[in-house]
Amino acid sequence: MTSEWEQQIKAQIKRRYAGLESSAEDGAAKAVAHGYPAELISELPPALAAGYSGCGYLFEGLDFKGDETVVDLGSGAGLDSYIATLQLTNGTVISIDMTIEMLEKVNLRLSINYLCADIEALPLKDSCADLVIANASFNLAISKTKAFAEAYRVLKSGGRLVARDLVKEGELPAEVLTDPLSFNTSLGGALEEDALIAEIAKAGFEDITLSDHKEFSYVQSVKIQAIRA
Ligand SMILES: C[S@@+](CC[C@H](N)C(=O)[O-])C[C@H]1O[C@@H](n2cnc3c(N)ncnc32)[C@H](O)[C@@H]1O
Repeated sequence: MTSEWEQQIKAQIKRRYAGLESSAEDGAAKAVAHGYPAELISELPPALAAGYSGCGYLFEGLDFKGDETVVDLGSGAGLDSYIATLQLTNGTVISIDMTIEMLEKVNLRLSINYLCADIEALPLKDSCADLVIANASFNLAISKTKAFAEAYRVLKSGGRLVARDLVKEGELPAEVLTDPLSFNTSLGGALEEDALIAEIAKAGFEDITLSDHKEFSYVQSVKIQAIRA
């Protein structure tokens, strides 16, 4: 049973991402500024970068065997899902997003399965994934507890969670706190580092690290890595 407040916030998030559009050039420039290799971005279909709305590059140092099942939580238009497919020889990528307009952009891409669903209640079997990735989506989950618990549930034992997300240091300034849309812009849902680590640990994850801190508007973008016990 979700509260009226939660339903309203989720409806606003969907509206915001359904209407998000930038040019391929602007999207590519943003991705490169966020750490995506320029050469990689230049080789991808230009429309892919146009829908990018993440907060950093999560593939640095991430090794693949080639046969993994990868689940991309809050995939948006699928830039990371697509990059994941490039690492696989016979694996599978499943993109999950609750905004159908974003997933319709994923639909244009090759070899990606997509599901319109809430990351707080995944329509996936237990222990089906080797790797869960997420870029700037956990901060938008109304219940981080549910979202991390779901990421844990769908991972196989020893599976990896690799994400980029936002952390705040201290209280956010008044102009953000008083913005009724601050949750949708990701700032309102950002946790402090200790609270974020506590949420990930509460789900059961081990070897949790937050690294590669980068300034991101009023907050910081970090790389999250953790292992499912
Ligand atoms: C900031 S965008 C990031 C998109 C993508 N990961 C990227 O890097 O371009 C966040 C995405 O998460 C989705 N999202 C937010 N809350 C969600 C939820 N509870 N369940 C599923 N998707 C959600 C939004 O629809 C949006 O597409």
